[in-house]
Amino acid sequence: MKLNIAVLPGDGIGPEVIAQAEKVLKAIAMEYNHVFTFQHALVGASAIEKTNNPLPEETIDICEKADAILFGAIGNAAFDLDPYAKIRPEQGLLRLRKSLGLYTNIRPVIAYDDLLNKSSLKKKQIANTNILIYRELTGGIYFGEKKLSEDGNTASDICEYTRFEVERIAHLAFKAAQSRKRKLTLVDKANALESSRLWRRVVQELATQYPNIRLNFMYIDNAAMELIMNPKQFDVILTENMFGDILSEEASVIVGSIGLLASASLGDKHAMFEPIHGAYSKAANRGIANPIAAILAAAMLLDHFGLDDEAALVREGVDKSLKLHITTPDLNTKYDNITTTKVGDFIEDFINNPDETNLN
Ligand code: IPM
Repeated sequence: MKLNIAVLPGDGIGPEVIAQAEKVLKAIAMEYNHVFTFQHALVGASAIEKTNNPLPEETIDICEKADAILFGAIGNAAFDLDPYAKIRPEQGLLRLRKSLGLYTNIRPVIAYDDLLNKSSLKKKQIANTNILIYRELTGGIYFGEKKLSEDGNTASDICEYTRFEVERIAHLAFKAAQSRKRKLTLVDKANALESSRLWRRVVQELATQYPNIRLNFMYIDNAAMELIMNPKQFDVILTENMFGDILSEEASVIVGSIGLLASASLGDKHAMFEPIHGAYSKAANRGIANPIAAILAAAMLLDHFGLDDEAALVREGVDKSLKLHITTPDLNTKYDNITTTKVGDFIEDFINNPDETNLN
């Protein structure tokens, strides 16, 4: 298969972890005779530095022409200290999602047996957790009208959703549940928000088309608690943009490190794959960033094109690296010299030679 992949490493640890994901994809291409080409483009703070624009036209153009996008992370400390900056790295990511119509964000949360003791939660609570979060990505409070009064004392962000926006992602979430444990939980705040009541109404109506799915509803505040207390009750979670952002970051506690969670952002024409973690500038260029989320994002990219064996091989490599403790310091207790690159090299070697890869 020929794939033209746009690579947007972004800021902070983005470039380091994306380099490992790219390495893994190159190894897969070699092993299975695919032709993957990679075209790099600027986004975020690094794009602002060079072009004064967090999402240069050239980047949009490269992404529009690509079959898929591999995205790293954006943001840096200087911008975090100045939330009032008019031009911000995050705008790069948000505009990209919007302009490419990436309305569905899929975030798998899987507790690895080998890492149960890395979570601050109790092992028996989290063992066998396997959740798929469907987060709406181009609507809601992130994209509604924003206002600040002239005196600077009143501000508002509108949370707006249309039936169409709810329906298109809800269908995908129902379908995902059909191929899993057939349970769908809509997380909302329908006791307080009109937009949530719309979500409930629409999802309830669609449920008649999916009679084999058990649908339940949960308020976001309750879901935040249930996700930690009893994560195994969830199969597919469907939710709006901001609730999904918060819940998926919370879910990283179950897995043991946010450095393990990947995501796919899909639209009708485009697909982007990224780790869910941020740019974590403090860790940049120190070799301590966990590349597994980025590598698993590459596996999701392979899934997207139906390259199932290829994706499975990447995941086997990840599993083996975790089993052998070939992991960065966020997870590692056994060795203290495993760098970002070493994890990537190990998984690359595994792909080249699955039966013989060990730590060297
Ligand atoms: C994410 C991030 C982004 C979001 C930020 C960087 C704008 O937290 O991808 O989850 O809030 O969507």
